[in-house]
Amino acid sequence: MVTVTKKPHSFNTTTVHAGKKRKDQFGSHLVPIYQTSTFVFDDVQQGRDAFSGEADGHIYSRLGNPTVEQLERALCELETYGLKDQDEYSGMVFGSGMAAISTGIISTALGGHVIAQDALYGCTSQFLKEEAPLMGISTSLIDLSDSFLLEIELKKNPNTKLVYLESIANPTMTVCDIKVISEIVHQNGALLMVDNTFASPYHLRPLSLGADIVAHSTTKYLGGHGSVIGGALVLKKELIEEVSLAKFRKNLGGISAPQDAFLLHQGLKTLSLRMKKHSENALKVAQYLESHDGVKTVWYPGLESHPQYELANSIFENGFSGVISFELVGGYTSGERLMNNVKLCTLAVSLGTVDTLIQHPASMTHSVMDEELREKAGISEGLVRLAVGIEDAEDIIADLVQALDSLKD
Ligand SMILES: Cc1ncc(COP(=O)(O)O)c(C=O)c1O
Repeated sequence: MVTVTKKPHSFNTTTVHAGKKRKDQFGSHLVPIYQTSTFVFDDVQQGRDAFSGEADGHIYSRLGNPTVEQLERALCELETYGLKDQDEYSGMVFGSGMAAISTGIISTALGGHVIAQDALYGCTSQFLKEEAPLMGISTSLIDLSDSFLLEIELKKNPNTKLVYLESIANPTMTVCDIKVISEIVHQNGALLMVDNTFASPYHLRPLSLGADIVAHSTTKYLGGHGSVIGGALVLKKELIEEVSLAKFRKNLGGISAPQDAFLLHQGLKTLSLRMKKHSENALKVAQYLESHDGVKTVWYPGLESHPQYELANSIFENGFSGVISFELVGGYTSGERLMNNVKLCTLAVSLGTVDTLIQHPASMTHSVMDEELREKAGISEGLVRLAVGIEDAEDIIADLVQALDSLKD
């Protein structure tokens, strides 16, 4: 006999169904790609009501589009999974992770100060150091894994409007105590924004730990196949209104294209399956690398040697995602040879694709970052980043073995 439960669906079931709302006029199973720039009004009154907000309805795809909205609902369901006040949140989809992050920072921190983690994705770091100050947003980048430093920085900058961090920092793999940080941030009247790209909502949901805004490069694990560039924010509808976020997105023009939103939504449905394999593989690869005498240090939150292992263990679910950073005994020269000698792994930036990617942060993803800050944040010249795919771990390890062996020649 089948037992009927009234419990909410599991996270995995939710990923498969998230975002579904309506059947279109032809009964299409998938929400179609509404590949249109504009929408037709029945009469002038309807157009007037749509513009004034008195009536629902689509106007123009830079403002909103049914395919994009389905992805927004889906992402919101996943990032707010398990929250009691889920209905109070909304997703907003952008054409890239950087469009989501920059629009989110501009709308929440205009005229104020941002305190951000020192180790961040290179373009986010560059935006905070170079462009944000030109817009009247002052910034400081500090080590947020030490919440005492945050308290000092908040005292120095009473006009702080936003604190910004990554749930697993790119590429140092630093994990911060989001719960403690959110309490400090809120006591100081500021907001906390967490880029959850590396962990994905499968492993960690920052809103449940007190964050106000979650940001994503959906290009990575959420899309999952490396076929689309995209970004997203998930936050309370009230906050969207308060900081005029929809107006900023409309006038900065960063919304996603319908075709990209469609592809991202297809990818999202297999998130749990893929993340399970990414994280199982990454742990095996990290353990192997740590045991190899040619490898100096491995950074992966699932290793007991990771500085925030205990914390990561207490806040992550079902593993620690798929990215590993490591440094070889021979430093940069050995790292370069290793990256040139891999055969199965692909030498390319990005992460979250089904295949394993390897890259050199200091000369690639983080080359745009202030050099001094890069060193201070622990992104050394010799650091190699491996985004472990969903191949079988034994094959990824065998490829690394042959590349490591080639260093002995
Ligand atoms: C952690 C993180 N955030 C944001 C971004 C920017 O995303 P996108 O390339 O989609 O603009 C990246 C890109 O690599 C990233 O790794």
